Amino acid sequence: MIPIKNEREISMMRRACRITAAARALAGEMVRPGVTTKEIDKAVHDYIVSQGATPSFLDYCGYPASACISVNNTVIHGIPDGRVLKDGDIVSIDVGAFYEGFHGDCAATFAVGSITPEAQKLIDVTKQSFFEGIKFARQGNRVSDIGHAVQEYVEAHGLSVVRQFIGHGVGKELHEEPEVPNFGKPGRGPRLIKGMTIAVEPMVNIGTHLVEVLKDGWTTVTADGKLSAHYENTVLITDGEPEILTVTEGL
Ligand code: MF3
Ligand code: CO
Repeated sequence: MIPIKNEREISMMRRACRITAAARALAGEMVRPGVTTKEIDKAVHDYIVSQGATPSFLDYCGYPASACISVNNTVIHGIPDGRVLKDGDIVSIDVGAFYEGFHGDCAATFAVGSITPEAQKLIDVTKQSFFEGIKFARQGNRVSDIGHAVQEYVEAHGLSVVRQFIGHGVGKELHEEPEVPNFGKPGRGPRLIKGMTIAVEPMVNIGTHLVEVLKDGWTTVTADGKLSAHYENTVLITDGEPEILTVTEGL
């Protein structure tokens, strides 16, 4: 069953998601050469806790941190550590916050200092692919219409979309129904209905779409060692335009 949120639950989702989006923004502001991924993780953790929320990822299936911080060829689920960000890196930061019974989930990729035009294009296409996808996140459409639009846009720009990991419903659980792939044929999967909340999260590679999970069980890297980017928001399906819930406006 795909959970449908009522008005009260939607306002709770908005609160959790605003905290989550603010944590992403704060993390992004810390990105510069010389900072460690662990320092960013600590700031994310402390901010979420300061808001009376809990980091959604901490201890989720044993995950050991509050943020996933994925540098360069790491696609997702990079574990924060003493790694020092250096000029020219790109870094994907994924955060989640649980507040009064509901989760928010969002991510973005940031430039460290000055990056190559190729890396900047990867970041820009990945972000725009999310917006291309959610043009189809409307009541009456099917879930796969979103991923189809993401894939078309990404591949039109000569990049590839990760298949092994996908977006998901988000609400009382960090991961709930439906599955939200970033690829595939249109017109498949469940119909979207007002009150569904989904995390749309394209992961885009410069080279092959194939990825590998390292021995730590989390760190997911591109199979060819080339760069990857990630962009994610929690989105509410309405009877009109989709509403992006992980926003900082109004804070
Ligand atoms: N945004 C990621 C996801 O949707 C974050 C989960 S990471 C984990 O799956 F550490 F919590 F597992
Ligand atoms: Co997610």
